Amino acid sequence: MTTTLQDCRALDAQDRLAPLREHFTLPPGVIYLDGNSLGVAPKATAARVADVVTREWGADLIQSWNTASWFDLPQRLGNQLAPLIGAGPNEVVCTDSTSINLYKVLSAALNIAREDSPARRRIVSERSNFPTDLYIAEGLCKERGLELVLVEPQDIATALTSDVAVLMLTHVNYRTGAMHDMAAITAAAHAAGILCVWDLAHSAGAVPVDLHAAGADFEEWRASKSADFAVGCGYKYLNGGPGAPAFEWVHPRHASRPGLKFMQPLSGWWGHATPFAFTPDYQPAPGITRYLCGTQPIISLSALQ
Ligand SMILES: Cc1ncc(COP(=O)(O)O)c(C=O)c1O
Repeated sequence: MTTTLQDCRALDAQDRLAPLREHFTLPPGVIYLDGNSLGVAPKATAARVADVVTREWGADLIQSWNTASWFDLPQRLGNQLAPLIGAGPNEVVCTDSTSINLYKVLSAALNIAREDSPARRRIVSERSNFPTDLYIAEGLCKERGLELVLVEPQDIATALTSDVAVLMLTHVNYRTGAMHDMAAITAAAHAAGILCVWDLAHSAGAVPVDLHAAGADFEEWRASKSADFAVGCGYKYLNGGPGAPAFEWVHPRHASRPGLKFMQPLSGWWGHATPFAFTPDYQPAPGITRYLCGTQPIISLSALQ
């Protein structure tokens, strides 16, 4: 069967997404296929950033931490993003870079997974995962005397042995575009007592993602298809601009776990329960807020918004 130009034009005319092009500042005639690296600029971004610089910062100055709600911007953006990745309200924050967020969630996942089972001393990942993911995992393994095991996609299932603490995968491969069955792999990992960390850099904003999958009950974790931790970039299909803040998601069953040993390691003041009490000791904020570290880049977060 041949496809004619007329067929293509007819399909284009039915494309419900086509009008969305008008929301972006693409130069005329450009067909842009590099959104996997740097998403195009939304037309709304320049005005939003200008307003932050001239009014919120320029005129209102320090009051804007309260009047413009700068302080809870990471959580507000997280709530805006949540439906795109199948997360619930107050489960996501936009902050830091994907690499830094991966360090935080992978550390927390290791702390949780190894609490009851210290014999679990491996992180399993895919050899063709994006390098930064592998470097962060390698660094953590060196720091803690653990082992990073890299496998081919077809060997993931057999690598889920009783000495594995965490399975860390990227949902859509940056080089091949191959997409994992997140729910099936997560369920297989959970059945083997392994926590799952997913990198959604190439899925958030591009393909449907359902982190809560079957909506499984917390108590049914072993049979659950619901992921444990996730991170992803803000500058690819979320069009947040070069170096935009990334995001991180932690399942509520892990996020508020009592005990400092289950914490993410970058325990800065923005993750404190009462940051303006300025106490000398660290008390984690409830939920995903404890995954914040220090003062947030408000202008960059506003561009992502
Ligand atoms: C899967 C994946 N993770 C992470 C990153 C980048 O992380 P960061 O924003 O910290 O440089 C990329 C960049 O392309 C990526 O493809």
